[in-house]
Amino acid sequence: MAAFEPQTVLDVRHWTDRLFSFKITRDRGFRFENGQFVMIGLPVDGRPLVRAYSIASANHEDELEFFSIKVPNGPLTSRLSQINVGDQILVGRKPTGTLVQDSLLPGKRLYLVSTGTGVAPFVSIIKDPTVYERYEHVILIHGCRFIDELAYGRETVEAIASDEILGEYAEGKLLYYPTVTREPFVHQGRVTEMLADGRIPTDLGLPPLAFEDDRVMICGSEAMLADMVALLKSRDYIEGSHSSPGHYVIEKAFVEK
Ligand code: A2P
Repeated sequence: MAAFEPQTVLDVRHWTDRLFSFKITRDRGFRFENGQFVMIGLPVDGRPLVRAYSIASANHEDELEFFSIKVPNGPLTSRLSQINVGDQILVGRKPTGTLVQDSLLPGKRLYLVSTGTGVAPFVSIIKDPTVYERYEHVILIHGCRFIDELAYGRETVEAIASDEILGEYAEGKLLYYPTVTREPFVHQGRVTEMLADGRIPTDLGLPPLAFEDDRVMICGSEAMLADMVALLKSRDYIEGSHSSPGHYVIEKAFVEK
């Protein structure tokens, strides 16, 4: 059996000159956990050119959605950013990843901390009704350089709030905290610093981040992951895995060099 299955592009949205999202058909047999990633790509010179992409749709949805950066000379993203409705995309058969609920111990609050395209796996997770049954609050934190880069995350949060079924689960539980670093905005600063100094929990009316009650999932650049892990370790957090659940899990956001 081939490692990749062709699927058809159903929708493409360009959010900024650096960011786009797209929806493709989903094979009936393709199963995944919310928060996981899969290899996707395009055939180039007769061979699959693929990268790991977080699935941004939830596993109850009929289509698969992805959120991507565009890198002008990136081997895959320079091609992928040109796709149109009706084109075909290769999708791997084995989704995987660390940002799954079973790797976390029970807690009161779930912080989803992201920068850039790192918001993608959390878009899947905040569409999962069961996450609202597990936690009192689910807090989506998204840090970007500029305000227009927040649009994909913000629209998803708005769509959840106005969804007849999901809206009821998320009401009063889903808290959204966007922040930017390179222009004036209602929240300004790096997510790591604003969690460390308590600005984010204070703004949301929550207690400071503590391992006893607060679970954390992190997806961002290597530098952001390193800073977040240092902060969590200084507060006695232990990393979780499927075989040994803990207080936090991390995954690198997709960036093509
Ligand atoms: P900054 O503007 O201060 O670099 P990028 O697009 O480069 O991935 O960045 C996305 C966001 O992540 C930007 O707001 C950027 O802030 C921020 N960022 C970069 N490095 C870190 C880090 N080590 N910790 C937290 N946020 C970071």
